[in-house]
Amino acid sequence: MTETDFIPKPYSKQIENGAFTWSSPSNIALVKYWGKKEDQIPENPSISFTLDYCKTTTTLSFSKKENNDGFAFDVFLDHEKKDDFKPKIETFFKRIESYMPFLKDFYFKIETSNSFPHSSGIASSASGMSALALCLMSVEKELVETISEAFFIQKASFLARLGSGSACRSLEGDLVVWGSHDDIPGSSNLFGVKYPFEVHENFKNYQDTILLVDKGEKQVSSTVGHNLMHGHPFAKQRFEQANKNLSNMISILKTGDLKAFIGLVESEALTLHAMMMTSMPYFILMKPNTLEIINKIWSFRASTGSKLCFTLDAGANVHVLYPENEANSVLEFIKSELVIYCQKGEYINDKIGFGAQLIKEC
Ligand code: DP6
Repeated sequence: MTETDFIPKPYSKQIENGAFTWSSPSNIALVKYWGKKEDQIPENPSISFTLDYCKTTTTLSFSKKENNDGFAFDVFLDHEKKDDFKPKIETFFKRIESYMPFLKDFYFKIETSNSFPHSSGIASSASGMSALALCLMSVEKELVETISEAFFIQKASFLARLGSGSACRSLEGDLVVWGSHDDIPGSSNLFGVKYPFEVHENFKNYQDTILLVDKGEKQVSSTVGHNLMHGHPFAKQRFEQANKNLSNMISILKTGDLKAFIGLVESEALTLHAMMMTSMPYFILMKPNTLEIINKIWSFRASTGSKLCFTLDAGANVHVLYPENEANSVLEFIKSELVIYCQKGEYINDKIGFGAQLIKEC
């Protein structure tokens, strides 16, 4: 597939108005995407667990407008008009316009809400952009004679990527790869694909408790962070390492080797933050409590033989990953030893999920 495969033929049908609602989850990368070329073409492939509880639900209502001069839309978060979200969506519409030629023909009302608090420090770009991309695909499906289910998801992922790179990994579950890799057939820089190989029982229903260490706005956005990988002294080695880690992940997922899984996932998280600390300008997104939690996790593992581990995204919050059969003991540990490091004692219990859902069409 190339970009041009996503440019539709002239539409065969006409529609006046309608509405679609999709919910789409967040995801947590095991091998991280950090560094990109233009339009979210990743410098290295990544793989993520799709989440279940953390999601965005978006209703896109549309009505034909009189002219097709420009984009016309309004955005609401939890019923409140959010004009400060508009520039990001305007940029998204501009990027996808050649693949969605109907965009200027309609006025859109975008109503969105998140299952997690807006100020939780959990990025809503992956779930938000994927939910919006799916709504737009539902509109396109009304305008063309036939569109296969596979193409629908693939194009939605392609569009979501143009909104925010990691968003393209949110549409399906339970493991998604994005970025071309020799060992993963069908993998592409343009969209996410379901992980195509066998996954050991150990990883079924894997748990992710997100410890909310810092719920504030990040000082450095992911986009700025990605761009600092251009000319970064360790960029080449990092991209090679991510490719190798993804190769190694294939056998780890197959054999269920939790010890190797822990090593790979924690190293990926710390490498991501090491890249931030060695950028120019350099920056640190972890907080003292992030490190407190990591140290507690390491001592808990050493003293109990637990197979829990941590990962981080581009922020201070800690994702605690663990097998389902350890859920009781790990939650006990979290409550007794880690909650004190969370802002207002808050955390979110999540687990592996299976992707986006069409909630309503009319
Ligand atoms: C650290 O997808 O948020 O979470 O493409 O600029 O929107 P943009 O960046 P974004 O970057 C996510 C980075 C990460 C790692 C990952 O999810 O793979």
